Amino acid sequence: MGKVTVIGAGNVGATCANALALRKVASEVVLIDIKEGLSEGKMLDIYQTSALMDFDTRVIGVTNDYAATAGSDVVVITSGVPRKPGMTREELIGVNAGIVKAVMGEAMKHSPKAIFLIVSNPMDTMTYLALKSSGLPSSQVFGMGGQLDSSRFRCYLAKALGASMSDIDGMVIGGHGDTTMIPLIDKAAWRGVPVSKFASAEVLGKVAADTMVGGATLTGLLGTSAWYAPGAAAASVVEAIMFDQKKVIPSCVALSGEYGQKDICIGVPTVIGRGGAERIVEIELTADESAKFAASADAVRKTNAVLSEIGAL
Ligand code: LAC
Repeated sequence: MGKVTVIGAGNVGATCANALALRKVASEVVLIDIKEGLSEGKMLDIYQTSALMDFDTRVIGVTNDYAATAGSDVVVITSGVPRKPGMTREELIGVNAGIVKAVMGEAMKHSPKAIFLIVSNPMDTMTYLALKSSGLPSSQVFGMGGQLDSSRFRCYLAKALGASMSDIDGMVIGGHGDTTMIPLIDKAAWRGVPVSKFASAEVLGKVAADTMVGGATLTGLLGTSAWYAPGAAAASVVEAIMFDQKKVIPSCVALSGEYGQKDICIGVPTVIGRGGAERIVEIELTADESAKFAASADAVRKTNAVLSEIGAL
């Protein structure tokens, strides 16, 4: 029933691998890292939960052995360093660009047909780097950020409205950065009814602001970046691919004219299925949302420019 590789056995990668096993998304999940024994240990630990949590997924941990990842249907890249309190995701670019480019190259050799899901930060720029350096079609290489940010948005909305999370619909588009993400308040709804019917502009403004610094808030509390929601969000995108769910998930994809942008990877609603990022959905944005999207694209482009400055592209 398929094979998924997760590269990077840090907190996000291991949580993603665990969620993939628990939700029976593939018959085999491989976790790979450069640190000797780390993947083996985490996957052995996960394996020992299988009788308790009722899954038969083969969970395999390896150190640097890309041959073990061969023939994967999906490869999730989480490698790199996480941010520390006070840091932005963009500050990680110097270290993470080299790592992401290298692991992408290795993984591609063994799974040329895989769908590649980029999670490493700064995610929009790492996705752009992975896409450009691989030469693969854009449907095959895209990034996960919007699924996580939208999940945080829905949590903050549900809390503010006193609603059930599953009744709340909401999306975050734009870059996956503290100042670049755009929670679409005007389009968020409680069972189809606009959230503005239930909360003041002030309350909804706070929901949007809390969503934007959702990751930074956790970094402040934890001393490193979050993992439960990022790992689960990545796993849910993998699930949409493996089961060909055709879910509309805000994903970081290459634009070629959509939303007035090109030569950039940034978060927009995308149909996710067995073909990866199958189709970009162009929703109508308000003037305010359009202006924010253009500003977000400018900021992402500025970070992308660093790639050539440091010789990564
Ligand atoms: C976050 C990091 C993982 O948003 O990007 O928590």
